Amino acid sequence: MDHVTIVTGAASGIGRAAAELFAERGSKVVAVDLVAPDWVDGETVIGFAGDMAEEESNRDMVSMTTEKFGRLDVCILNAGVAGSRPWNDPGAVDYFDRVVAVNLRGVALGIRSAAPAIAASGGGAVVATASTSGLGGDPNNWAYNASKAGVINLVRGAAIDFGVQGVRVNAVAPGPVETGMTAGLTEHPELHDAMRRRIVLQRWGQPEELAEAMWFLASPAASFITGVTLPVDGGLSISAGHFDLPG
Ligand SMILES: NC(=O)c1ccc[n+]([C@@H]2O[C@H](COP(=O)([O-])OP(=O)(O)OC[C@H]3O[C@@H](n4cnc5c(N)ncnc54)[C@H](O)[C@@H]3O)[C@@H](O)[C@H]2O)c1
Repeated sequence: MDHVTIVTGAASGIGRAAAELFAERGSKVVAVDLVAPDWVDGETVIGFAGDMAEEESNRDMVSMTTEKFGRLDVCILNAGVAGSRPWNDPGAVDYFDRVVAVNLRGVALGIRSAAPAIAASGGGAVVATASTSGLGGDPNNWAYNASKAGVINLVRGAAIDFGVQGVRVNAVAPGPVETGMTAGLTEHPELHDAMRRRIVLQRWGQPEELAEAMWFLASPAASFITGVTLPVDGGLSISAGHFDLPG
């Protein structure tokens, strides 16, 4: 199969699971992170180091991919950072700028670099990682909330602009998933369990479950789907939140 995928944020968590799944299913993969992932084989899965908040990194990631593998079919824009600082924290605005730079600007720069290369390869798909924290708000999470809500409307605009070139642009909105990003919560069993109880399926998600949704959105099975954000959240986002869930 002549199929090439870029995955950002591929050193760990959801990005690593996606890169491994796409590779297992026969795609050549460029696994991108701040430090090039060390789990690659260097042949059909290669690593690339770049800061997705930077325009140059996004440009170089795509040009390296097309030079090495000759085409680009799918780009999974998944790199992200969590959190927010309290509103009155002196560092709050700098932190907001960094969260938005990675989570939102990074996705915009990634689309800007990858979509023309995908179009030049005959069409394909972009899948960005939003969050249920982009569908609603959380306490003390305003920077992250804003950045992920931005991704949800960014994929709509980009889908409209690139659809005519055969490039579909969608997002997944993960609910709580056990990764490095949420390891801090896992260390607080009462908080971890309180979040579990808000999820309709009464459990946290696993990175591989997000990877499967990304695979679907990137695949021909989703050939008539563009501009959507698919919640992959065990039902977290379907409850109005008025009552405790059964369980
Ligand atoms: N884990 C969850 O519960 C959850 C829920 C909703 C959304 N998400 C989103 O899923 C995505 C993946 O997160 P994860 O849970 O796998 O966490 P993770 O921390 O395991 O993985 C994130 C990866 O992104 C990389 N990264 C961060 N900033 C980067 C940058 N500027 N350039 C390149 N790479 C960068 C990190 O080094 C890391 O390897 C993120 O966008 C995150 O916001 C996660």
